[in-house]
Amino acid sequence: MRIAMIGSGYVGLVSGACFADFGHDVVCVDKDIRKIEALKEGQIPIFEPGLDELVAKNARAGRLSFTNDLAEATRTADAVFIAVGTPSRRGDGHADLTYVYAAAEEVARAIDGFTVVVNKSTVPVGTGDEVERIIREANPDADFAVVSNPEFLREGAAISDFKRPDRVVIGGDSPRALDVMREIYRPLAIGRSPVIEMSRRGAELTKYAGNAFLATKITFINEIADLCEKVGADVQDVARGIGLDNRIGSKFLHAGPGYGGSCFPKDTLALLKTAQDFEAPQRIVEAVVAVNDNRKRAMGRKVIQALGGDARGKTVAILGLTFKPNTDDMRDSPAIAVVQTLQDAGAVIHAHDPEGTEQAKQVLDNVVYFDGPYDTMKGADALVIVTEWDAFRALDLTRAKDLLNAPILVDLRNIYARDVAEGIGFAYHAVGR
Ligand SMILES: NC(=O)c1ccc[n+]([C@@H]2O[C@H](COP(=O)([O-])OP(=O)(O)OC[C@H]3O[C@@H](n4cnc5c(N)ncnc54)[C@H](O)[C@@H]3O)[C@@H](O)[C@H]2O)c1
Repeated sequence: MRIAMIGSGYVGLVSGACFADFGHDVVCVDKDIRKIEALKEGQIPIFEPGLDELVAKNARAGRLSFTNDLAEATRTADAVFIAVGTPSRRGDGHADLTYVYAAAEEVARAIDGFTVVVNKSTVPVGTGDEVERIIREANPDADFAVVSNPEFLREGAAISDFKRPDRVVIGGDSPRALDVMREIYRPLAIGRSPVIEMSRRGAELTKYAGNAFLATKITFINEIADLCEKVGADVQDVARGIGLDNRIGSKFLHAGPGYGGSCFPKDTLALLKTAQDFEAPQRIVEAVVAVNDNRKRAMGRKVIQALGGDARGKTVAILGLTFKPNTDDMRDSPAIAVVQTLQDAGAVIHAHDPEGTEQAKQVLDNVVYFDGPYDTMKGADALVIVTEWDAFRALDLTRAKDLLNAPILVDLRNIYARDVAEGIGFAYHAVGR
């Protein structure tokens, strides 16, 4: 199959490289000229484990190429995937569909022969209808069908998620389009990943319902963690105790500083907006969004408390800034609110992240960055772990204690054992235990 992937960000680039690895002929398109130039030179603009090798291998094999020319890529494609950003619209939290609609218009003008236009971006219910209308209006003669194919990959494990997904969801009712989609995903049959077909609206809503459910699970355990702290229970015991129940499952039951990232915050908000528009309020998700928003700054206040209630003039060493390990993505990372709360209280921030420093510099001011964890903590008044990168899981705590000005460890990811940290002489503060 010949595939054009419009948008070469986290989703577009991973999907494009994986489709090429399945044996399809893929052209990844982006309007960002520098991104495409870099990709042509073999440089990967994002950090995603294994992506550089996968891109290089498939580019070398002639199955994967890069261009700024959307029209040319569309003309020769059997399927055009739209994988552009759908951030929260400033002001009201609706999904901003400007990029999707702009891409649809450009695609419309270049369609040549039957083409399946696939919405891979996360888009509210009804966006497929609008994309169809835009294309038909811009090019009444175009022979096309619009399909929804939401993406469920997780940054940090994106390639294995894409190649061995729990499921693939395809929404649409054109038999010709469904045949093309089945052919594109046929290689997944080896791994027995289910490919489920449904209405386009069903597929669009499935993506939001999935993310809202996961955000709810995280927020649920975070509130239970708060209760654990008050009653003297350990949230890790409780999470294990409930997670072993197959009806509940153990994933997404790790108490922490609140969910962040490029998807959950914006997708939960967008779902609420859709729910309002259709007069079907989602009260559970409303509560989840509000609780999670409060939590991020509350984690900053937790650090201030650990410092004795006053952060003014104190230096806080932060380890981990990205919203989760194994990505350089800083979008809506809880670290942003933690750092800002501490800065508002007069603290000086020293920080280190294995991959996220460049992106962090774009969203955080007045932070002093260091190359490694031990440089970061030298002379600091507290050590705070915000993101659980592997590199922070086995710190030499004795060395850390000697480097710090005060032996305070705030472990917002619960990666250390209290007795070990306290045995070394730390005042240890965790989440929910
Ligand atoms: N990042 C994730 O983990 C993830 C997971 C599942 C779904 N999604 C969804 O996938 C979509 C893309 O997310 P992302 O994280 O890859 O975004 P991103 O910001 O990393 O990438 C989007 C890319 O699209 C390009 N672009 C925008 N308009 C264009 C146009 N008209 N023509 C060509 N290129 C254009 C941008 O330059 C950018 O490089 C979003 O809807 C997101 O919600 C993301």
